[in-house]
Order: sequence, then C-alpha cells, then structure tokens
Amino acid sequence: MTKNEMIYEGKAKKMWSTKECEDYLIVEFKDSLTAFNGEKKSEEVGKGALNNKISTEIFHLLEKNYIKTALVEMIDDNHQLVKKVDIIPLEVIARNIATGSLTKRLGIKDGTVLPFTLVEFCYKDDDLGDPILNDEHALILKAVKDQSELDYLKAEIRKINEILKDFFAKKGLKLVDFKIEFGKDKDGNILLADEISPDSCRFWDMETNEKLDKDRFRQGLGGVKVAYEEVLKRILS
Ligand code: ATP
Ligand code: TYD
Repeated sequence: MTKNEMIYEGKAKKMWSTKECEDYLIVEFKDSLTAFNGEKKSEEVGKGALNNKISTEIFHLLEKNYIKTALVEMIDDNHQLVKKVDIIPLEVIARNIATGSLTKRLGIKDGTVLPFTLVEFCYKDDDLGDPILNDEHALILKAVKDQSELDYLKAEIRKINEILKDFFAKKGLKLVDFKIEFGKDKDGNILLADEISPDSCRFWDMETNEKLDKDRFRQGLGGVKVAYEEVLKRILS
C-alpha cells in the first residue's frame, strides 16, 4: 500500500490515508520526543524506528495471545499498515508499581508494588490536560457507549497486562505501568490500536531498577536511545 494524504500529525506519529483502501492507514513513527503535554520537546534520531519495531513485536505477541489489534503489518523502518479505527477517547492505563502521577496524586511512595493491578482511565483531551476519569465521567462524556464497553476495556487491559508482565519479566524487565488506546473498526469491533513502546510504558531493570523508557527524557537523565535499544534487544533475545 502507498501513502496518499497526511490526515493527522500528532506529537509522535503521522497518519496517512492509503491510495488503495479507505479502511487502512499508514502510520509513520517520528523521531520527536515530547513530555508534559507537549511542553518539553526534543528529537532523537532513530527513536521512531525503534518504537515501530518494539510496538510491532509487542502487538504480534498480543495477537498470538488472542488480543485483537489494529496492526496489519510493519512496512519498513518507520511505517506500519493498520486498520483504521474510531479511537475511543480514553487512555487506558494499568499500573503494577506506583510512580509518576499516581505518587503525586495519592502520596504513595515511588516504587511501591501495588497490592493488585490498578486500572485507570484518562480522557484524551490535550486542552483539558488528559484528566483522570471514573466510569461515570466516561459515560457522561459519551466516551463509550455503555458500561459494558468500559468493562470490556478493563478486562482487556488486565489480560494484556498479564501477558506483557510475564513476557518482560522473562527479559529481566519490570513492567511498571503502561497506557493503551482502543478503537472501533467499521464493523464495530473493539481493537487495540495506537502503539505500545517505551514512550507509553515504564520499564525498570529487574536487578538495578534502572529506567529504560521515556522517563529518561521526562527527567533529563540522558541515554534515551540507548535505553530504547536495550528494550528492543531484550524483546528479541
Ligand atoms: P495523544 O497521545 O494524546 O493521542 P498525539 O495525537 O500527539 O497525542 P500521536 O501518537 O502522535 O499522538 O498520533 C497518533 C494518533 O492516531 C493518535 O490520536 C491516535 O489515537 C490515533 N490512532 C492510532 N492508531 C489509530 C488507528 N488504527 N486508526 C485511527 N487512529 C489511530
Ligand atoms: P502517568 O504516571 O499517569 O503519567 P505521567 O507521565 O504524567 O507521570 O503515566 C502512566 C503510564 O501511562 C506511563 O507509562 C506513561 C503512560 N501514559 C502515556 O503514555 N500517555 C499519557 O498521556 C498518559 C497520561 C500516560
């Protein structure tokens, strides 16, 4: 398939329609890094290709475990072919270890292993700063059709978390937390969409707790690309 028109440019990706079929999009992974709702920005040559490969590997693993995804195939270093979906405007987050905004919001000590996996929703709205929502907020905003869709998203992220937590543990990485997005295809099926990469997950080394994700950029720790390369190396090991 070939690129037609750029229909959207986000902070990390460009989305292109295809010349051949309106049900598909070509995703281009950019080298830009952003944090704090776009306030901190940088470029890291090669980051887009790393996220494309990492996300493709993870989506293939999930597909093998019966998770339905929008990924069709990786096209080249920076491009994927995906099924076009209507994105459900929720960031669905799972947390195994407390860090980031959770520690600030609730005063839980950074690094505390949570007694069970915490699932949260944020509303995808940059102008509002992606606020955290409960089920009733999500229903009032009509982010989903009904409670059963919210329950489906929660059950799906818990399944995905179990698959990924076990997979990364075998690679010497703790899956601290992550964000995913879902969308509906033209037949109304809910599919996992967007990406799963060190931009949208937190990975800590099992032995040293070294951060191998976008927190290296958020916190100005340096070594962003080396960390993403390490994640890919471990996935492929
Ligand atoms: P945000 O993380 O808040 O979405 P963004 O828009 O800057 O910010 P990018 O990853 O740069 O994020 O842009 C990709 C956009 O494409 C996102 O809005 C995402 O929801 C959307 N998207 C991802 N996969 C699909 C898909 N299969 N079909 C339609 N839209 C998709
Ligand atoms: P969180 O601790 O809520 O955010 P912050 O980066 O502000 O501390 O993030 C939880 C996880 O979800 C983390 O792995 C990053 C990911 N995430 C995103 O990728 N995009 C987002 O917009 C949000 C809110 C989280």
